Amino acid sequence: MKKKAYINEKIKKFNKEIIVPGDKSLSIRFVLLASQAIGKSVAYNILKSQDVLSALNTIKKLGIHYNLNKKNCEIYGKGFNGFSFKNNIKIDAGNSGTLSRLIFGLLINSKNTIILKGDQSLSQRDFSRVIKPMRMFGQNIESKNNKLPIKVRGTNFPRPINYTEVKGSAQVKSCILLAAMKTAGKTKIKCIPSRDHTEKLFLYLDLPIKIKKGKKFETIILNGKKNYKAFNYVIPGDISSSAFFIALTLLSKNSKILIKNVNVNNSRTGIIDILKIMNAKIYLKNKRTNNGEKIADIFVKSSNKLKSINCPAKMNSRSIDEFLIIFLICSVANGVSKFRKISELRNKETDRLKFANNFLKKIGIKTKMTKSSFKIYGKPNLKLNKTYEIKNFDKDHRACMMSFIAALTLGGKWIIHDTDSIKTSFPNFIKILKSLGAKINWWKIFLFQ
Ligand code: S3P
Repeated sequence: MKKKAYINEKIKKFNKEIIVPGDKSLSIRFVLLASQAIGKSVAYNILKSQDVLSALNTIKKLGIHYNLNKKNCEIYGKGFNGFSFKNNIKIDAGNSGTLSRLIFGLLINSKNTIILKGDQSLSQRDFSRVIKPMRMFGQNIESKNNKLPIKVRGTNFPRPINYTEVKGSAQVKSCILLAAMKTAGKTKIKCIPSRDHTEKLFLYLDLPIKIKKGKKFETIILNGKKNYKAFNYVIPGDISSSAFFIALTLLSKNSKILIKNVNVNNSRTGIIDILKIMNAKIYLKNKRTNNGEKIADIFVKSSNKLKSINCPAKMNSRSIDEFLIIFLICSVANGVSKFRKISELRNKETDRLKFANNFLKKIGIKTKMTKSSFKIYGKPNLKLNKTYEIKNFDKDHRACMMSFIAALTLGGKWIIHDTDSIKTSFPNFIKILKSLGAKINWWKIFLFQ
């Protein structure tokens, strides 16, 4: 069943405390790392979204048992050689870029072949970024045009590698780290910094990882083949999900929100730094550390004096999943906002730069887009009164949620298609919106096929 949403009213003022679900990156990493531990690992507050369910389904197909309970998720890992599965089994990574890239790392020593596939959006995405380093480790990979479906088989003799990663991709870095973890010897990665959850988890598991920070690049060295025991892990809230409620509050009148218990790892908080530069009233409270990850409550107030930003490129990987919502905020900020070196946005669930450009034009905002840069001419008094229909976004969950925030803050009438996509990362998004007072109407389309 596909669902279309109709929104005809802005959200009224609100003053609430909310909790967003567990972080998606951490939830997927927990599933993958727990599958390689020895014994029962338990995660609390794991995200129960489609991408995480795809990860659980993947390890199950590879022979690892799990229980997804109301309060926790238990995974019964069998160590580095614990996968057992028949030759040529098919694994469906669904929509998940993170799962489909990271799983190559765990399959470095697999004896049998798997055929990895994904949904329509994932099947359009580039895998050369992981195929190249994995072949250097000795993995056997067959693919057409570096896209899914891809056949993968491991090797009995993986070789540690030296690799330079220039995209600032945490998925590539993490895929290499997972393969390195199962490979005897020292793997060295020189990379542009990106989210460092895998490194933090390795430290938490006491794996021999060394990280040297440089000016532009950092170097990570991992000594492989050290087993680890099962572990417990508490997953904090996802800043990428929080971003939609931060924007909702900033763009509404006389409202306040406290988003409790959010992961504020420095490699993820680009959005907070960007919004502070833009004059947003956003504050971190009750800062603490848990399992090696920083956590805080995020307090936000409506902000009607937002100004544009000339966004430094070093912010890019720290806010990579938040750009759509940042662009929306820029459309009502005073002045011209500028972003550069953001071509990676074209390689997400949909081409997010193209989507943003079309979206902002549709609502009357002037933009200038090149292959890798974007300019937004903000209109602080933007008031919409037409009907806006949002469709054909490759079911990109973040494009869909950004459209809801626009609909609830800018006025006009909105029809948003493919809202099922939201369950990829944020199954209770609509429920939280409604708890803040949002009025959303639905049209259900039944598919008889
Ligand atoms: C992720 C890394 C990022 C991000 C994705 C999650 C991760 O992708 O966009 O949503 O969990 O490692 P890239 O590594 O391709 O930038």
